[in-house]
Amino acid sequence: MSNMEKTVVLIKPDALQRGLTGEIIHRFDRKGLKLVGIKMLKLTDEILDEWYAHHKDKSFFPNLKNFMEWTPIVAMVWEGLDAVATVRKIVGTTKGREAEAGSIRGDFGMSGSQNLIHASDSVEAAEKERKLIFKDSEIFDYVSASECLIYSREEVES
Ligand code: CMP
Repeated sequence: MSNMEKTVVLIKPDALQRGLTGEIIHRFDRKGLKLVGIKMLKLTDEILDEWYAHHKDKSFFPNLKNFMEWTPIVAMVWEGLDAVATVRKIVGTTKGREAEAGSIRGDFGMSGSQNLIHASDSVEAAEKERKLIFKDSEIFDYVSASECLIYSREEVES
């Protein structure tokens, strides 16, 4: 199917502590994205060194790791047409106080570091992130009964 993508979302410790877990999941669910994997886990140095390898020389890297290890996080894989870009739009830009109203960060956040949620920024990153957290057997391939309402036949068959 064309552009059918999987993307990884993390509900970060600040969102978990603020009781926003259900609200965040609901936003992707009602959009029409398909949930194909979900688990709660505690991130480790090992995972984060790999996950944020592109940030490892930044001054904020130690704080970022501490923050992400504060509590467990909820990790999810969502599937849909152009899912990577669609999910990034729902999440909003990095800094909550600048993020668009209507986005998750725009509606619930002020910070640029404690910014509630992570979303993969490319299909390649999504694949790498998925493998750091999920086994292949934890990603589900099932028929969504609502797919015919969410997409036209041409969109999913092209
Ligand atoms: P995200 O964009 O999901 O991935 C990189 C994370 O690093 C980002 O969210 C923030 O949580 C964090 N981050 C980015 N910039 C800064 C910064 N200037 N200071 C502290 N943390 C940051």
